[in-house]
This record gives sequence, C-alpha cells and structure tokens, in this order.
Amino acid sequence: MQRSVMVTGATSGLGLATALRLASAGYEVIATARSDQQADRLRAAAAERGVRLSVVLLDVADASACRHVVDQVAEEGGGVPWALVNNAGIPLAGAVEDIDDEAVRHLLEVNVLAPARLARLLLPAMRRRGGGRIVNISSLGGRITAPGMGWYCAGKAALGAVNDALRMEASPAGVQVVLIEGGGYASNIWNKAADGLRELATDGRSPFAGMYQAAEAPLRAGGAMLPAPEPVARAVERALGAARPRARYVIGARTRVRMVADALVPHRVSDHVKRVALGTVGSHEWVEYVARRWCRPW
Ligand SMILES: NC(=O)c1ccc[n+]([C@@H]2O[C@H](COP(=O)([O-])OP(=O)(O)OC[C@H]3O[C@@H](n4cnc5c(N)ncnc54)[C@H](OP(=O)(O)O)[C@@H]3O)[C@@H](O)[C@H]2O)c1
Repeated sequence: MQRSVMVTGATSGLGLATALRLASAGYEVIATARSDQQADRLRAAAAERGVRLSVVLLDVADASACRHVVDQVAEEGGGVPWALVNNAGIPLAGAVEDIDDEAVRHLLEVNVLAPARLARLLLPAMRRRGGGRIVNISSLGGRITAPGMGWYCAGKAALGAVNDALRMEASPAGVQVVLIEGGGYASNIWNKAADGLRELATDGRSPFAGMYQAAEAPLRAGGAMLPAPEPVARAVERALGAARPRARYVIGARTRVRMVADALVPHRVSDHVKRVALGTVGSHEWVEYVARRWCRPW
C-alpha cells in the first residue's frame, strides 16, 4: 500500500526537493504551501517532474489552521498521514541585542512550536495505528552557535531537544522520530536572512549596523552558490524507508567535520575564529581564511 507523507513548507528549497523526491519514490505526498499562488507553482513543479502530489494551504504558525488541516487531510485520506516531515522554517539573522521579542516569538513559533504541535496532532492516530514516522529538519546551527545567528541556532537546538524527547517517548508505540542535520544549501532562506539584515542595518544605533550592511549582498550571492538541497531530500527518503532509522542523520562530510571541530576546540579558540568571521575582530591572515571559509554566520 502507498504510504502517505505530509511535508510542510514544500514550496521551495529543502521542502520542495523533499516533496518531489518522495513523490518520485512512490509516496503519496501531501505538501503544504502558504498561498494559492505558491500552491500552483508547487503543482507545476510536480507536473514538470512528472509526479503527483496534493497541496494544502497551511501557515504552521496558526494553531487552529494546523488542527483544521490535519483533520481535513485525515478525512480526505482515510486517516492521518503515515509520516510527517517538519520542514517549514524561517531564518532570523542579527545579533541577540538587535532582535526584538516579537521576532523571536515568531521564529520559535514557526521553527519549534509548530513542528511539536503538528507531531502532537498526528501522534494519537499514529499510536492507534501502531506506527508512523516524524522527521524534523534541523541544521548545523542546532549544534554550533554562530554570533549573529543566535536565535536561529537557539530554535534549532530546541528543535533537537524536543526531537530527542519525542523519539524516546514515541518509539514504544512504533513511531520513529528522526532529526536531519544539514549544512548549507541553496534556497530562499538566504535571501530572507539578507532581507532581515537590510532591515537591521537601517538602525544606525546598532554596533553591528555596518556589518549587516556589508554582509547583505555577499549573503545573497553566497546563498545562490551553495549546492542544491538534494542530499537532504535523499536523507529524508532514507529515514522514511529504513526499517530502523537512525536517530539523527548528519548530512555531508563538511557538516560532520565542523561539528567535531566545534566540540573539540576550546571555546577560547573557536569564539575567536567566529568573532573574526563575524567581523568584530581582526586576526592573522590564516585565521581570517579559516574563519571566512568555515565559520561565516551570514
Ligand atoms: N538552506 C539551508 O542551508 C538549510 C540547512 C539546514 C536546514 N535548513 C532548514 O530547512 C528548512 C527549509 O528551509 P529552506 O532553506 O528550504 O528555506 P526556504 O527556501 O525559505 O523554504 C522554507 C519553506 O518553509 C515555508 N514557511 C516559512 N514560514 C512558514 C509558515 N509560517 N508556515 C508554513 N510554511 C512556512 C516557506 O514558505 P514561504 O515561501 O511561504 O515563505 C518555504 O516553503 C528550514 O527548517 C531550515 O531551517 C536549511
């Protein structure tokens, strides 16, 4: 029997690649979009790839919409989806002292509360069925904190903790919970982060205003040059297809090297390199090189 998977935030980047890949692999994909226009673009992308998926409108920050969509999908599909891929997410670039409470609340709502809420809405039926899978899309930022990206990293770290608790709580019922930890991939997230930096740069009182301004254009350009998000889509497919999925899938050698290095190098050293990458201090030429190549926050 065809297994169904709901993928949130499937209109671009990692979510789009994942939805299309899962549909190609034979899953019945329910992909979420936030507007009719994006829903149409998503259907067109699926048609171009020669696959079928159904699209539902959902803003994951809207709790009642989440409940409504889960009910609607269950009614139309004869039960809740077999799996959930919590992909929808937003960036939040800027120093901690420059980000206001409202922006933080929204980030945590979308990147942490919403994945947990959707899991909570699906879990009772998954338990009754005796199986299911929940995949949460995290990032290197959940393991390594970069200055200038504190709240994004905090959200991903929180998602990792919630994911781990849920994994242990749900596994006796046959529901496997998996965290995907990716590096950097081309997607709209970089332009959204750059938009945030542009807004922050207009506040001349910020000690980081000059850095925000200087970082905006390279962030847009650098984001576009990153590899396509296909490795993440492949990892999600592996996590759904495995009889016994791993707890966490760390994607790419570079991501693994950075995680190990950050864990082993003393804070005094790694903080210095990250500050150099941020641009708040200068250093030797080779430190500047390492910082630029491996630790740039934006
Ligand atoms: N790109 C990377 O390098 C990278 C690496 C590791 C992890 N990630 C994570 O991967 C996930 C996808 O990011 P991406 O890079 O593919 O970014 P993206 O291209 O901006 O895609 C984000 C998706 O989430 C949707 N979304 C945002 N807010 C939403 C909301 N309130 N309700 C429903 N959907 C919402 C977006 O829809 P709209 O188009 O309507 O905004 C879009 O479909 C995020 O969780 C991100 O943190 C990204």
